[in-house]
Amino acid sequence: MKISLGAQPIAYPLPVFVIGTYDTNGKADAMVAAWGGICASEPPCISVTINPNHQTFKNIQETKAFTVSIPDRQHMKETDYCGMVSGKDRDKFQDTGLTPVRAEHVSAPYAGEFPVVLECRLFDIHEIGTARQIIGEIVDVKIEEAVLGYDRKPDLQKIGAFAFDVMKMEYYSLGTPIGKAWDAGKKFKQ
Ligand SMILES: Cc1cc2nc3c(=O)[nH]c(=O)nc-3n(C[C@H](O)[C@H](O)[C@H](O)COP(=O)(O)O)c2cc1C
Repeated sequence: MKISLGAQPIAYPLPVFVIGTYDTNGKADAMVAAWGGICASEPPCISVTINPNHQTFKNIQETKAFTVSIPDRQHMKETDYCGMVSGKDRDKFQDTGLTPVRAEHVSAPYAGEFPVVLECRLFDIHEIGTARQIIGEIVDVKIEEAVLGYDRKPDLQKIGAFAFDVMKMEYYSLGTPIGKAWDAGKKFKQ
């Protein structure tokens, strides 16, 4: 029997992204975002929903650029810190020791320690109640060679990405592969 949890923003799994931006003085900022995901393939786009009071939102409005990094579990604590304090008050790169690296194609930073980064140009902003959904066109994806598999494709286990449980307020690691997509369901085809 199912019970109702009411109208809540719950989904599984929620990603853990780190959004990198510069302010108008060139100060690098990084914030955690769990409300987001790929939203188009032509052009390739990602959406992240950001509270307009965050420094990150202001920065994106001004520079029209941001990065979306996928942190690894070795940097879970540094990542969490980026979701706890604002760039208005702190220099999160300095506090955590993460290395700010300027993206190649857009005016935004990312932490060199994170294995995957999407360089994004602002595509659109949608108002959703009190939130702002930021759509970024992905102009390049950078990945550490060491997290590629033998087939030269990104290996999720090696990337070490982790997800967010909004109800338990916990991070959890992602599991092992369980089947091939567009294949496992073939047994139900006539
Ligand atoms: C696990 C986690 C997920 C979060 N997801 C979001 C999110 O999707 N959108 C958002 O606006 N803030 C989110 N936050 C809060 C921001 O990361 C946080 O307020 C941050 O301090 C904003 O930094 P800034 O002011 O430097 O931009 C999240 C925080 C945590 C810890």
